[in-house]
Amino acid sequence: MKNVLIILCLLIVAGIARAQQTNLITNVDGRKTISLNGEWKVIVDPYELGSRDASGRTGFFKDKKPQTRSDLVEYSFDAAPSLNVPGDWNTQKESLMFYEGAVWYRKTFDYQRKQNSRVFVYFGAANYLAEVYLNGEKIGRHEGGFTPFDFEVTNQIREKDNYLIVKVDNKRRREGVPELMTDWWNYGGLTRDVMLIEEPETFVQDYFIQLRKGAPHQLAGWVKVNGKRLLETVTIQIPEARISKTFTTDDNGYAEIGFEAALTLWSPENPKLYDVLIQTEMDTIRDQIGLRTIETRGPDILLNGKPVFLRGICIHEEAPFRGRAFSREDARTLLGWAKELGCNFVRLAHYPHNENMIREADRLGLMVWSEVPVYWGIQWENQATLDNALNQLREEITRDQNRAAIVLWSVANETPQGDQRVKFLRRLIDEARRMDPTRLLTAAMLHHADGETTRVIDDPLGQYLDVLGCNEYIGWYDGLPEKADRMQWTTTYQKPVIMSEFGAEALSGNHGDELTRWTEEFQESFYRHQLGMLKRISFLRGTCPWLLMDFRSPRRLLPGVQDYYNRKGLISNRGEKKKAFYLMQDFYREKREGR
Ligand code: GCU
Repeated sequence: MKNVLIILCLLIVAGIARAQQTNLITNVDGRKTISLNGEWKVIVDPYELGSRDASGRTGFFKDKKPQTRSDLVEYSFDAAPSLNVPGDWNTQKESLMFYEGAVWYRKTFDYQRKQNSRVFVYFGAANYLAEVYLNGEKIGRHEGGFTPFDFEVTNQIREKDNYLIVKVDNKRRREGVPELMTDWWNYGGLTRDVMLIEEPETFVQDYFIQLRKGAPHQLAGWVKVNGKRLLETVTIQIPEARISKTFTTDDNGYAEIGFEAALTLWSPENPKLYDVLIQTEMDTIRDQIGLRTIETRGPDILLNGKPVFLRGICIHEEAPFRGRAFSREDARTLLGWAKELGCNFVRLAHYPHNENMIREADRLGLMVWSEVPVYWGIQWENQATLDNALNQLREEITRDQNRAAIVLWSVANETPQGDQRVKFLRRLIDEARRMDPTRLLTAAMLHHADGETTRVIDDPLGQYLDVLGCNEYIGWYDGLPEKADRMQWTTTYQKPVIMSEFGAEALSGNHGDELTRWTEEFQESFYRHQLGMLKRISFLRGTCPWLLMDFRSPRRLLPGVQDYYNRKGLISNRGEKKKAFYLMQDFYREKREGR
């Protein structure tokens, strides 16, 4: 009887855990979609009049129009200006550069309904809070500025004159994730693709197909179907490897999968992707999936069983000459520069980037550190804040769990030490491990000084992580560049350490001697002294300079030098490489050649 009870409890826990999975539709590129990108009418609404009157008299989501010349309607999308979607609003209209508040977006369209099909509206991201209405009816709400979400609209969509209205509010919130203070621009809006997804009655919603941890010849994972017919036969095909395996979903629509397969493993040197087909009676999804193992052994990181040094660079999701990056060509530009630098690894800071970045990293052979924006101070004791962080983590992992490039899930950046913070972050760590036992957990942490010339890595959070990220600015915020020459480092953990941030600012084209701050020569000298120090840290398994390209920040105010840009880029926001870029490139060439 006791065993039966234990099994029953385990089944209930597994069911609850699965229920906490998102209902996110993944691999949208492999599905039937109708793009809603392009011009959307917008109403900038700083006093939030648009949601004030639920009766709909003024509710902007009703898209009301005067029926007679005497009618009083004090707003009009038809007469409103437009913004491009995807894209932040800040860099599309000068008057919106500093705007933090609500903007109402409207898209009108006709829709040719297909027999027995279901329809979803999908958003790649909306920063920060989105309320979505279709034909005057609220269909959903989403919090979090950097992860996808979708809502079923099968019953609300019609053939003619649909009006999709989205309220996007990018006001920062004390209880938010991130909280009020960030060192990046608060770009607001529908910042990524918007589309309709058409699915059959019962469809393949989501799946996880990766190598079992530490087992390079075994694929493992699951497939989830959504619809009335939950008991489905699911076939997984990898045509190039002549593999075709069949499984049956349970009455929750889940099928665990597992089978032997001798495949070419994905690596930066050979980023091999296989065409994978996931088929049920009514649906076929095609994806391109790389397979590799990633583990740690003592202080080493093992990729496909072999020790690897992560030659990295930190990247914000910002495109040169513009604002938020979102497109495949933006991804090619940023990751192309990383490859030119000699990287095999990128830290996508400080939030999940758009899916084009991850797909391009898969193709280019760049390992990825992906991170939720649990950044600096957070309301550690606020349950709603924790639920929000967990939801963003779940959406991040659900979207990208089949991307070989992602090797590290990061739960935080530079969060101040404390018991409540560890308790909060352990929930994220446990959830990430539950959802994805194949990848490594990390965080970018601070260290502490033990006297003038010793730095110690001993953050208590490290005991729950696989890989320790350490941020340091010796020579920029902490003394001058030559201070690095005298620095010794120790760690209290037998775990891999990555120097996950170090950097100095320089205005591209500004020249002077090595002690003149803000010059390219100062930045170059900083890197020369830094690299000397990093070479002396025997337990270091990765370096990740802060960062690839200058980026906008409300905290960077020095006129004529920063002008609301953080200038720590090795490349300027106009695509100009600074002298330090070539120093870093030489270091990575030596690393790659084993020197
Ligand atoms: C911090 C932080 C970054 C910030 C950087 C800087 O380490 O993680 O987000 O931009 O320092 O001060 O430039």
